[in-house]
Amino acid sequence: MLTAEDPLTRQQFQDEAITLLTGAIETTGTTLAWTLYDISRQPRIELRLREEVATVCGDRPLRYGDLEHLPYARRVLQEAIRTYGPAWLVTRTAARDIDLGGHLVPEGAVVWSPYLHQHDPDVFTDPDAFDPDRWTPENVSATRGSFLAFGDGRRKCIGENFAWAELQIILATVLRTWQSFELKPTSGSPAQEMIVPETGADTRPTPSGS
Ligand code: HEM
Repeated sequence: MLTAEDPLTRQQFQDEAITLLTGAIETTGTTLAWTLYDISRQPRIELRLREEVATVCGDRPLRYGDLEHLPYARRVLQEAIRTYGPAWLVTRTAARDIDLGGHLVPEGAVVWSPYLHQHDPDVFTDPDAFDPDRWTPENVSATRGSFLAFGDGRRKCIGENFAWAELQIILATVLRTWQSFELKPTSGSPAQEMIVPETGADTRPTPSGS
């Protein structure tokens, strides 16, 4: 960026770096943390994931071309993004009053929340349940295309495709590298290990009561 024909100013460069730090690293980092947390609470999901990864790449390292053959890993990640919505708040300003499907969005309203949207029981049955199979080709129509975790429109997340690849690669690599380990909460009991989302720039996992 500094050596481009029309290089950025120092301020622009700093702004880009901060955008990427908060927009790219925190979001994918917390998504993976939540994914591993939920897998550790549901061993049958971990088992299915491990079987998929073993079938696709056996003992060899993962290749980019493997990603399309890991649909279950993708569904597990999508469910982590839906359930915990790392980008829980998105800013927009309504330029005028708008009737949005019968709801008034008043002029000047400034935020909307993918997190709240993704917990709407009208769209997601049992929204607090972590269920990767709501994203199977047979079930996905029930959500009416309501996955807005990356935003939409002109300012939609520019890093979405990169994020999917990165998330799938890291998840599959963790499972492949530690093949003979089982993921467990550090307390040893999922019931004791209550983790809740703490909202900041994203929704990070935090032990409840801390
Ligand atoms: C789980 C991962 C991620 C989630 C959930 C996520 C979500 C979002 C959301 C909701 C927005 C705002 C969209 C809007 O205003 O409509 C956004 C913007 C953005 N994201 Fe992501 N993101 C993720 C990963 C990434 C990654 C990996 C990168 C970069 C490699 C990235 C770069 C950006 C940038 C630069 C913007 C601002 C785009 C603009 O304003 O034009 N994001 N992201």
